[in-house]
Amino acid sequence: MCGIVGAIAKRNVVPILINGLMRLEYRGYDSAGLVVVQSEQLERVRSTGRVAELEQKSANTQGSLGIAHTRWATHGIPSERNAHPHISNNQIAVVHNGIIENYEELRTELTARGYKFNSDTDTEVIAHLIHSHYQKGNLLTATQKALAQLIGAYAIAVVAAENPQQFIAARKGSPLLLGVGNGENFVASDMSALLQVTKKVIYLEEGDVVDVSLDGYRILNEKGHEVERPIHISELNNDSVELGQYKHYMQKEIFEQPQALANTLESVCNSQSLVPGIFGAEANKIFPQIESILILACGTSNHAGQVAKYWLEEIAGVPCSVEIASEYRYRVSVANPKTLVVTISQSGETADTLAALNHAKASGQEFTLAICNVPESAIIRQSKLRLLTRAGPEIGVASTKAFTTQLAALFLLTLVIAKTRNKLTEEQEQTHLHELRHLPAALQKVLALEPEIEKLSEQFTHKHHALFLGRGVHYPIALEGALKLKEISYIHAEAYPAGELKHGPLALVDEDMPVVSVAPNDALLEKLKSNLQEVKARGGQLYVFADADTHIKTSEGLHIMQMPEHAGYLSPILHVVPLQLLAYYVALQKGTDVDKPRNLAKSVTVE
Ligand code: G6P
Repeated sequence: MCGIVGAIAKRNVVPILINGLMRLEYRGYDSAGLVVVQSEQLERVRSTGRVAELEQKSANTQGSLGIAHTRWATHGIPSERNAHPHISNNQIAVVHNGIIENYEELRTELTARGYKFNSDTDTEVIAHLIHSHYQKGNLLTATQKALAQLIGAYAIAVVAAENPQQFIAARKGSPLLLGVGNGENFVASDMSALLQVTKKVIYLEEGDVVDVSLDGYRILNEKGHEVERPIHISELNNDSVELGQYKHYMQKEIFEQPQALANTLESVCNSQSLVPGIFGAEANKIFPQIESILILACGTSNHAGQVAKYWLEEIAGVPCSVEIASEYRYRVSVANPKTLVVTISQSGETADTLAALNHAKASGQEFTLAICNVPESAIIRQSKLRLLTRAGPEIGVASTKAFTTQLAALFLLTLVIAKTRNKLTEEQEQTHLHELRHLPAALQKVLALEPEIEKLSEQFTHKHHALFLGRGVHYPIALEGALKLKEISYIHAEAYPAGELKHGPLALVDEDMPVVSVAPNDALLEKLKSNLQEVKARGGQLYVFADADTHIKTSEGLHIMQMPEHAGYLSPILHVVPLQLLAYYVALQKGTDVDKPRNLAKSVTVE
């Protein structure tokens, strides 16, 4: 949450900062602001609107050194006074992503020393603290001293009015990278913000502080020692963060799914058989020792975990539990050192998932595996094993292509674990590999339902509630469909395993309660059909995404959307797509901000 950009160049950096913030707006969009250093003065522009408004407000602002921020409010309401950058005594300006846990005591201390606070944020204490240690020329040392007093998570960028030649940045617990240009240098929360200026990137490590100037940078590690960090060339290209022909990022990302899946599966689909090595060198040693699997994740990533539980238990015969990371981290649980702890995260920086991973490790569970879309993210770096989903940047707050690629990665994990446990014959492995290779094409067919779903969405525009039903491995898909709808259309939606209907939710069913169901042609089809009859008999309107070979026909109160033929174990990956499209088109009808739904943010780096 919150996005940071910093730049020093020989040209005006304001357009670079604004462009960068636009790329980072997915991280938070309550307010935005920037500071440039001009003639030994800090010139600040802030706005409570979107970055586009900040762009207008800063049309006449110029400077070759600046820092900028887009906010997702934690401490203090979204308002101009709480928007970053925060300034101390017209000297020091700071932008910050993260949470300072001891800010109250620091605030009391600083107030007693005469510092005046102009905001309700935790960030302002950082500005004053740095100022309290600052003397002309020592911005680096002053920042280091202030950081030593902070408890919590931060990525920051700092400038001083008297110093147009330098800015300082630092990270601990929140992401920050350094973009290396030609005679100009930058920092940002993620690479998408810097593609406009450079492809050379250094991923800063926990506790790093970097002193950035026009023609160079110096990185100091947590102990204050100067260190070298490797320069990577980013594989991202500008197209991957441009909207192109699409109206919204969510729509673009839904349609990118066949390619995202193909990319994620690329290495394995070309091979004849699966090997543990795709998860890292140590997998060969770790996988044979595993007695159970514990999946930890939040939101959509948690739903991916819930699907995987069905696969892992049925195909690999390994006991699997899935926990919401924010619950697990505070729960007293029974640790088994032979458990493989799998974290799933699009961003790799979700605070609760990271904390749950560390909690699992602290309780003696050392076998850790991350499934993540961001290389070099905290979750990847803190896990022994990993598989990168190659979905490309996901910008829409509602996760789509990250989810389907996570499922593909989890299916690979299932197959590899099954092989290790002698639960998979050579022939079965080949069949599954064949199905995986076919997945992008099968998904393309599902996307062709778009016009039909667009029409269907009209039935939902004026509804206040919706029920989603699924059974077995498709129950988490119903959960995901309900989450998508509520996230972006603000329609209250709940998901139930269809068998649970008569134990409560059936009481809600009437003509005003649309009931959406996924109906794959699997072992539970006949049971599901009975559940659907229970809804129909009570006057409910059913909208059913049914596999072509289920032969369920449209009738009074029962609207069928025809899916391709049943895709076997991979069916959840296909069935979620029409639910994503449905949520998208309902949100469009309702005129909500699809890519930036109210109150939410893409990566939740706070508890
Ligand atoms: C936020 C996002 C969701 C995402 C969840 C977990 O709530 O809006 O789309 O599923 O965080 O994020 P992660 O990056 O860990 O997958």
